[in-house]
Amino acid sequence: MKLLVIGGTGGTGRELIKQGLDKGHIITAVVRKPIKIKYSHPNLIILKGNVLIPESLEQAVQGQDAVLSALGHKKFFIKTTILSRGTKNIISAMTKNQVKRFICITSLGINDSKFKLGLYYTLFTIPLILLFYFIDKSKQEKLIMKSTLDWTIIRPGQLTNGKKRTNYKHGLTVGSYILTKMISRASVADFMLNQLDNQTYIRKTPGIIN
Ligand SMILES: NC(=O)c1ccc[n+]([C@@H]2O[C@H](COP(=O)([O-])OP(=O)(O)OC[C@H]3O[C@@H](n4cnc5c(N)ncnc54)[C@H](OP(=O)(O)O)[C@@H]3O)[C@@H](O)[C@H]2O)c1
Repeated sequence: MKLLVIGGTGGTGRELIKQGLDKGHIITAVVRKPIKIKYSHPNLIILKGNVLIPESLEQAVQGQDAVLSALGHKKFFIKTTILSRGTKNIISAMTKNQVKRFICITSLGINDSKFKLGLYYTLFTIPLILLFYFIDKSKQEKLIMKSTLDWTIIRPGQLTNGKKRTNYKHGLTVGSYILTKMISRASVADFMLNQLDNQTYIRKTPGIIN
């Protein structure tokens, strides 16, 4: 398939590119700093761009079979709208170019998975560190849900840099109100790529944990 990856210089995005190429997909990655991609591959196209600039996405989206987003940032302590604005631009470019399949990472703990990142996140990390980020993620999800795309919102537990596993748990009720469940970025990428030929979670919000 022809895939557009957003966030390809990040932890999960790098895995999406690597595993996607291994599966034989043709990958286009829109990245702010192409120099951060340290390898080349005949099936990998790197475009310099920024999700906050709609024109960056117009050309990139054309002719793709699906878009996979691992967009994120670390500006936790300021009120930002990067995730929601960037995602709005992605949705708009996809809608305009009739690209329907959108697979996007948000997080457990958002909207109807509230409190499902465990007590530590619920009482400490989210209110004291991730509050603005989670407010923006919540808006990001709502924009996706309102779209006419064939979307899947993937809500991981706490991310690690561990190895890819294939026996992870996923579904609409995973997560814990007490414990913080983990999942590796490599496993999240595997799950996202597996959604490309699977209709189970179209217009659904599966969580994913070890
Ligand atoms: N950490 C956790 O425990 C956890 C738990 C659940 C969910 N998540 C979510 O999972 C997702 C992936 O996490 P991660 O740690 O793999 O991400 P990450 O390493 O922070 O990577 C984020 C990616 O987004 C890109 N990006 C940021 N702003 C951009 C813009 N304006 N235009 C284009 N690209 C932009 C970054 O590009 P640059 O390289 O240029 O900065 C980077 O490639 C995030 O949404 C995160 O919130 C994380």
